[in-house]
Amino acid sequence: MAKVVAGNWKMNHGPAVTEGFFERFRPDANAGSVRLVFFPPDLSLAAGIGSARVPADFGVQNIHWEAAGALTGEISAEMAKEAGAALALIGHSERRHVFGETDAEVDRKVGAAGRAGLVPVVCVGELIEERKAGRLEEVLRRQVGAFRASLGAVEEFMVAYEPVWAIGTGETATPDDASEAHAIVRDALGSLGRAPVLYGGSVNPANAAALMSAPDVDGVLVGGASLDPEVFARIAEAGAAVGPG
Ligand code: PGA
Repeated sequence: MAKVVAGNWKMNHGPAVTEGFFERFRPDANAGSVRLVFFPPDLSLAAGIGSARVPADFGVQNIHWEAAGALTGEISAEMAKEAGAALALIGHSERRHVFGETDAEVDRKVGAAGRAGLVPVVCVGELIEERKAGRLEEVLRRQVGAFRASLGAVEEFMVAYEPVWAIGTGETATPDDASEAHAIVRDALGSLGRAPVLYGGSVNPANAAALMSAPDVDGVLVGGASLDPEVFARIAEAGAAVGPG
């Protein structure tokens, strides 16, 4: 399968900056062989969809599990779909650790994405204390186990392995670390383990090719280095150079 190169813009890039990004985002033609995905802020989704000049899918960074209701500040999977999103990030480490999202909530959101026909990109990953205590496998199995049953009702999904200690820190997992964790994720997914498993955490143009060449790494989820169109184009090109597989 083609490598997935996904950008999570977090709370960056309003609509005008989003349009400017796509004016300057010009990866080489062969980068068309990667699957490009953007997760802009909700308010910039329409600007992104309207101004992208390369084939790309768009997604939202979070959804609520209810379809509608008195839930101030939230958006539903159905609304995201109507607004043109094809995917939804679920359980990103900032949602889990800054906003206190639980495994049970992640599971409900996976179910909601499936109900609305969005592709859930479910994030998992261990804290540094958990890794140091030798609990990597236990944590990943617990996180995947919490939503695995709900994937049965989902047509297509991805998992992103993002070690919390590598997010926004400049400290990247080695390709071997990524492969080891991805193999655990796949095993925990059981019969669903052929889905794409992406690596995230301080991916940049210098390390992207090595990470995407590692066994079991099907692509990357990029935060900081996805904000600059020239930098993110280099990562897309790295994915294309690695090729499918
Ligand atoms: P980073 O973020 O690339 O800035 O480390 C990755 C993510 O949070 O998805």
